[in-house]
Amino acid sequence: MNKIIAAVVVIGAFAGGLYFGTSQNSAPVITNSSEGASYGGGFDKANQAATVKKSAVAKRTVAGETHVVNDGDKIMDAVKKAKPGDTIQIMPGTYHETVYIDKDDIRITGVIKEGKYATLDGQRKLNDAILYSGNNIVIENMRITKYKGNGIMGQAGNNFEIRNNIIVDTGVYGIFPQLGQNGIVEYNVISGIEDAAIYVGMSDNIHVAHNDVFDSVAGIEIENSRHAIVENNYVHNNTGGILAFITPGLPIKTTFDVIIRNNFIDNNNHKNFAAPGSTVAGIPAGTGILIMAADDVIVEDNIISNNKTAGILITDHDNAPNTTIDPESDPAPDRVMILNNIMLNNGYDTIDEAKALLLTEFKQGNPDILRVGVSRDSCIINRHRYVTVGVNNWKECTFTNTNAIDSYILDEPVPPRDIDPSERGKVVYMGICAGCHTYTGRMIGPPVQIIQALYMDNPQGIADYIEAPTKKRDDYPEMPPQNYLDAETRLAAAKYMLGRKN
Ligand code: HEC
Repeated sequence: MNKIIAAVVVIGAFAGGLYFGTSQNSAPVITNSSEGASYGGGFDKANQAATVKKSAVAKRTVAGETHVVNDGDKIMDAVKKAKPGDTIQIMPGTYHETVYIDKDDIRITGVIKEGKYATLDGQRKLNDAILYSGNNIVIENMRITKYKGNGIMGQAGNNFEIRNNIIVDTGVYGIFPQLGQNGIVEYNVISGIEDAAIYVGMSDNIHVAHNDVFDSVAGIEIENSRHAIVENNYVHNNTGGILAFITPGLPIKTTFDVIIRNNFIDNNNHKNFAAPGSTVAGIPAGTGILIMAADDVIVEDNIISNNKTAGILITDHDNAPNTTIDPESDPAPDRVMILNNIMLNNGYDTIDEAKALLLTEFKQGNPDILRVGVSRDSCIINRHRYVTVGVNNWKECTFTNTNAIDSYILDEPVPPRDIDPSERGKVVYMGICAGCHTYTGRMIGPPVQIIQALYMDNPQGIADYIEAPTKKRDDYPEMPPQNYLDAETRLAAAKYMLGRKN
C-alpha cells in the first residue's frame, strides 16, 4: 500500500517536473477540437457518401508563435506583440482590461486548469472586454464578467470563431459580431445580459449553435442579417428567446434566410429589464420566438414550452412597439415557414391583443403561434396541433424539413470586408451611435439635434469627447468611451452626425 502511494508520488513529481520544467507557468498542451482529425467511427465508412464537416472557419494562413500571458500580465501586451497567425494563451487568473484586436489571424485561447478560467473582469467600470476588427479571429475558453457594454464585440471582422466562453452578468451585449461574414458562435454559456446574450448584427453566413443562454432580455438575436442558422441551443428564462428581425434605420436593410431549428426554448418569461427605448424593450415577456419583418425564416423541430405570451410571435413593424418606419426596409415578415415543432403550455398569460384576436377567430385556449400584421406567402404544416392566431389563411408548406442544409458557413474564408473611407462615418454612426442617439428624441443618449447645436462647426470636439466621455448630464447615464475607434474613424462619425437631417 505504502509502496503504491510512494510510486504515485514519485511519478507525479516527475511528471510535474517535466511539465513545468523551466518555468512555473509554461503552457500546457492544448488540443484544439476544431482542427485535426475527426473520429472515424468503429467501421470503415470510406465508401459511404457521408462526409464530416469541420466547424473551423478561421483558417490559419501562417503557423505562428504562441504567446503565454500569466496572471498579473496584461493581455494587451501580448496582443501588441502578436503577428498574424499567432496564438495568445491566457493562463487562469483575473485580468482587468479591455482587449482590442485590430490585426488578422489572432487566436485568443483561455487556458482552463482544473476548473479555473482566465477571467476578464470589468469590475463594473470598464465598458468592453474584447473588441476585434481583424479577420480570422478566434476567441475561446474565456470567462468574462462585470463589463458595462460588450463581452465580445466584432466590428467588420470576417471568418470568426467564438466558442466555449462563459459570459456572465455583463452589460448590454454578450457576444456581438457586427458587419461580419462567415462566423461561428458555439458552445458559449451566457447569462444576465441587458439586451441580447448573442446578437448577430448586419452579418452574413453565420452559425449559432450549442449555446446556453439565459436570464437575459433577448437570448439570441439575428438582426439585419442573412443566411444564418440557429440550432441546438438551450434558450431559457429570457424575456424573449430567439429573435429574427429587422431594425429600421440601419445601413443594411434586410434580414432573410434564417433557419431556427432543434433548439430548446423554454420558460422565457423574465421581466424585461432592457434600457427604455431600445428595440428589445418592446418585447413582451413570455415570447419564445419573435419574427419581426424578417423574410424566409424557417422554424423547425424546436421544443418550445412554457412561454407565457406565445411560442412563436410573428409581427410586422407597424404592430411592434419601439420601432420607427424605414422607407427602405419592408416592414412585413414574408415567407415565414413553420415546420414541425413541439409546443407545450405556451400563451397561458398572453397579451390582450392576442385574446381579442382569438375571439375574432372563435378560438379558445392559449396561443402557441400568434401573427399580427402583414405576412405574405407564409406557410405551416400540421397547424391542427397548435392554438394559432392569424395563420388560418397560411398555405401548407411544400416541403417538410431542412435536412439538405447543414450550414451556411462557406467552405473557404472570405476576404476582408472593404469599407470605403468615405463610408466609414456612416457605418459607425448607423452601427454604433444610432443605437443610443436619435435625431429628435431622447433615447439612451441626448437627441442629435441638441448635439448639433452644441458642436455646430466642431466635429473634432465630438471626436475628442467620444474618445473619453465625461459625465455631462444628471438625467442621462454616462456615455461609454469609443476609444477602440481610431482618430480618423471617430472624426468621420462626428462629421456624419453633424450632417444628419433626420
Ligand atoms: C451606449 C449608448 C451610446 C452610444 C453607443 C453612443 N452614445 Fe453618445 N451619448 C450617450 C449618452 C448617455 C450621452 C450623455 C452623456 C452625458 O450627458 O453625461 C451621450 C452624449 C453624447 C454627446 C454629447 C457630448 C456633450 O458635450 O454634451 C455626443 C457628441 C455624443 N454622445 C456622440 C456620440 C457619437 C458620435 C457616437 C457614436 C460613435 C455615440 N455618441 C455613441 C450614449 C451613447
